[in-house]
Amino acid sequence: MASPALISETGPWKDLKDHVEDIKKTHLRELMADMGRCQSMTVEFDDMLLDYSRQRATLDTIDKLFKLAEAACLKQKISRMFNGDKINSTENRSVLHVALRAPRDAVICSDRKNVVPDVWGVLDQIKEFSERVRNGSWVGATGKQLKNVIAIGIGGSFLGPLFVHTAFQTDAEAGEYAKGRQLRFLANVDPIDVAKNITGLDPETTLVVVVSKTFTTAETMLNARTLREWIIAALGPSAVAKHMVAVSTNLPLVEKFGIDPNNAFAFWDWVGGRYSVCSAVGVLPLSLQYGFEVVEKFLKGAQSIDQHFYTAPFEKNIPVLLGLLSVWNVSFLGYPARAILPYSQALEKFAPHIQQVSMESNGKGVSIDGLPLPFETGEIDFGEPGTNGQHSFYQLIHQGRAIPCDFIGVIRSQQPVYLKGEMVNNHDELMSNFFAQPDALAYGKTPEQLQKESVPEHLVPHKTFTGNRPSLSLLLPSLNAYNIGQLLAIYEHRVAVQGFIWGINSFDQWGVELGKSLATQVRKQLHASRFKGESVEGFNFSTTTMLTKYLKATSD
Ligand code: F6P
Repeated sequence: MASPALISETGPWKDLKDHVEDIKKTHLRELMADMGRCQSMTVEFDDMLLDYSRQRATLDTIDKLFKLAEAACLKQKISRMFNGDKINSTENRSVLHVALRAPRDAVICSDRKNVVPDVWGVLDQIKEFSERVRNGSWVGATGKQLKNVIAIGIGGSFLGPLFVHTAFQTDAEAGEYAKGRQLRFLANVDPIDVAKNITGLDPETTLVVVVSKTFTTAETMLNARTLREWIIAALGPSAVAKHMVAVSTNLPLVEKFGIDPNNAFAFWDWVGGRYSVCSAVGVLPLSLQYGFEVVEKFLKGAQSIDQHFYTAPFEKNIPVLLGLLSVWNVSFLGYPARAILPYSQALEKFAPHIQQVSMESNGKGVSIDGLPLPFETGEIDFGEPGTNGQHSFYQLIHQGRAIPCDFIGVIRSQQPVYLKGEMVNNHDELMSNFFAQPDALAYGKTPEQLQKESVPEHLVPHKTFTGNRPSLSLLLPSLNAYNIGQLLAIYEHRVAVQGFIWGINSFDQWGVELGKSLATQVRKQLHASRFKGESVEGFNFSTTTMLTKYLKATSD
């Protein structure tokens, strides 16, 4: 019998739909009282602990989710990804970010060619180049050492590297290697971002890395031209060869731009932009700042999760469990959002990165075969480090809308601070909140409890917490380069699992194109009006009015 075209037409999907009614009758307080259930809902891997006992799920739910995984051919889809099959069918591409962190002797093929030697060819090139810049054997046009790097790129050519840089910055080992050096990121085309990036930097001691998979992204190319002018104005045209390098899959365009192809670091079309942090996109700027050895540890961390994801049985497989639970929350319990709450300031840029990984991957309206989906995919991801978020949006999470939360905690702080005589130190204080919040969400506080505390009757409704709000907790042993790589890979694979279950293509992003092409029309109009005096035409009333006002105000 042919398998149904949509996962929602399968028996396991329908079974889970019916099962929702049972779960709705059960409060998390009751679920948490079942010790056997709670014990079964923890997984340990490589000294990290996942606890998903505060999900609105029973062991039966998990079993049903495994049946859904089977109906969606999850295992086969994971294998197809690792085997280099062209699972990104709308772009006819393999999806092989796992090859970016594979050991040197691994064999991973795309188009029947082992891609691992090419990966290591570029890693070796980065190692050599970054060491030369760092030890001063590659210098700027005036012979000065290049201590500062501005990485120009946007989206996947920016968010991942920024997340990792922010996390490395406060790590003792990585931080030590970065002494005396600066790494900045120029993403936005807003002139304010240009100004912020070049302020206080001298072109003589600055290396600009232009990062763009396509080398056509409007914002990145304009920023690259602007910084090329900045360098030329200070040091003359020949300085570009020493002060600008590129990371791209499009080496002909790199050369056309005026960057020596010998100073270009390649990657490949089988690396999606948002999955590219382990390619030269992240590895080059991070190696310039922290040294290649530190970045290699990060790659090894990601690789350890790739291995785990590929081989661990689903009951012990962290990305698989996380992905299935997200599908459960979105498609069955109907939660539209997910909060990513790291109790670590070093992970400040983690949620913004995962926003792109998750929302650009899974925010789709049709199946991989182009059929309209009768259910929603993806979720709205947002987040902030705790405890800052607690003083911002947690009110809504506790008493307003229910939003499944990911609590991410770290056992050993990157920067422990101990105060003699205090009841707890800073890290204990942070972690006290990490441990407390999931229970506040799950258990809540009943009117009866409040009455026992003699809370005035008129305040009881305001102080009541309904509870029954799901979360999961991921406890990492520490936050070094290795663990940061692990965290990245866990979330990358979780997103893939969700897409595999929903039956969508998580690796294309056609939804970003329409806005780009409309901006091109506007750009042409601005140019034609400003420089040729042409009137605004071809837009609706609203856009015409705004464009006219903008042009008038900026024409003097
Ligand atoms: O507009 C979205 C996007 O295409 C992302 O998918 C990508 O990460 C980003 O733009 C940057 O693209 P590029 O690396 O080609 O400049």
